[in-house]
Amino acid sequence: MKNSNIFPRHTNYDLPNAIRGEGCYIIDENDKWYLDASGGAAVSCLGHSDKTVQKAIIEQTKKLSFAHTSFFTSEPAELLANLLAKHSPEGLDRVYFVSSGSEAVESSLKLARQYFVEIGNPEKHKIISRRQSYHGNTLGALAAGGNVSRRTFFEKLLFETSLISPCYPYRHQTQEETESEYGLRVANELEEEIINLGPENVMAFIAETVGGATAGALTPVIGYFKRIREICNKYNILLILDEVMCGMGRTGSLFACEDEEIIPDILTVAKGLGAGYQPIGAMICQNFIYDAIANGSGFFQHGHTYLGHPVACAASFSVLSKLINENFSSQVREKGQYLQKNLELHLGQNQFVGDIRGRGLFRGIELVNNRSTKEPFPKKLNIAGRIKKQALDIGLICYPMQGTIDGSKGDHILIAPPFIINENQINEISTKLKSTIDIVCN
Ligand SMILES: Cc1ncc(COP(=O)(O)O)c(C=O)c1O
Repeated sequence: MKNSNIFPRHTNYDLPNAIRGEGCYIIDENDKWYLDASGGAAVSCLGHSDKTVQKAIIEQTKKLSFAHTSFFTSEPAELLANLLAKHSPEGLDRVYFVSSGSEAVESSLKLARQYFVEIGNPEKHKIISRRQSYHGNTLGALAAGGNVSRRTFFEKLLFETSLISPCYPYRHQTQEETESEYGLRVANELEEEIINLGPENVMAFIAETVGGATAGALTPVIGYFKRIREICNKYNILLILDEVMCGMGRTGSLFACEDEEIIPDILTVAKGLGAGYQPIGAMICQNFIYDAIANGSGFFQHGHTYLGHPVACAASFSVLSKLINENFSSQVREKGQYLQKNLELHLGQNQFVGDIRGRGLFRGIELVNNRSTKEPFPKKLNIAGRIKKQALDIGLICYPMQGTIDGSKGDHILIAPPFIINENQINEISTKLKSTIDIVCN
């Protein structure tokens, strides 16, 4: 925008000016309507004009906007923590509220470290994660993630993290192995790496339950996470599941790990937790971790000014209550199946579409230059960047990314629409995507 003082994400793009939101659409200053097929980045799960959440924010602002958490607790934070604990997997009863996904991940890494120091295992400090993962952009979260391009500038500032393979059957399952054999093979890489580093040194394994931004809705194969959980137990390593993007009902369960039938030691959520109405994230931990701190130093050596912000918590309580009371999980499952079928109908035979995958209303489309060899487009064609722009031009917000295969090569489009989306709008997503892909890739 002319005469802007904003420091934008990209300095050489002119962005439209968003004025208001209505349901699944964002409307710009020229009254152009954009269908938000990715909820920004899997954020806006209730769309852009939910009256109940808006009212909750206004009411809380009238009562109390801020009370520092080193002096006070607050009703919205207590209610939200209680509701989250009640609906989260067993034992995950302690909730630490922050303002973003990166902060939730930072908190989980620091908590894992402090836990082992408190229980007398101070040598445990190493983190293992997966290639092509993304855990946030602050230095600790960035160091824990495996996305090459986001790390490059800052490599020298980042602590060392060991990377194992993602669970990525489209690219790496061989013809000789079944899906579960493949899952076991990649999960066993964790054990190899733990032995390699020395189990006495390893503190945590962190993974996105369903890989999101940098991998394009990579759903784990059955049994993969059960084996991961077993390995973590065997070597006394904390399992941190990052559900900042895939959590809060996005995959059709409030927590994506419910489908994997495992329970992590620490779980992170954000994005859908505030649904875009307020910035909020949370780290939820097992009682035994909390108890180690409570019975030890009695103080988690962490904190930010806006922890447990009352207005953010009130908004989030309203979002979460809706997700639970209006049974959005089953709606997401049904609509997710419709979305998958609809994408397959319009794009399944497209010569540039290699894979359409995902769970619930969290879908990824991997683009290829050649369907039979799965060869990606040359990086310099910047397919993902051009898809984003072309889609926006025709009124579609989607979330394309380059580097799907190894952080550099490969392109995918992430689709994560609001849970209130209807069949006509799903149809609009597929047809607009088809025309976008045909224009950009041909
Ligand atoms: C899995 C995951 N973790 C962490 C983050 C960082 O969240 P935030 O951008 O809110 O800091 C993201 C953001 O995309 C994410 O997808």
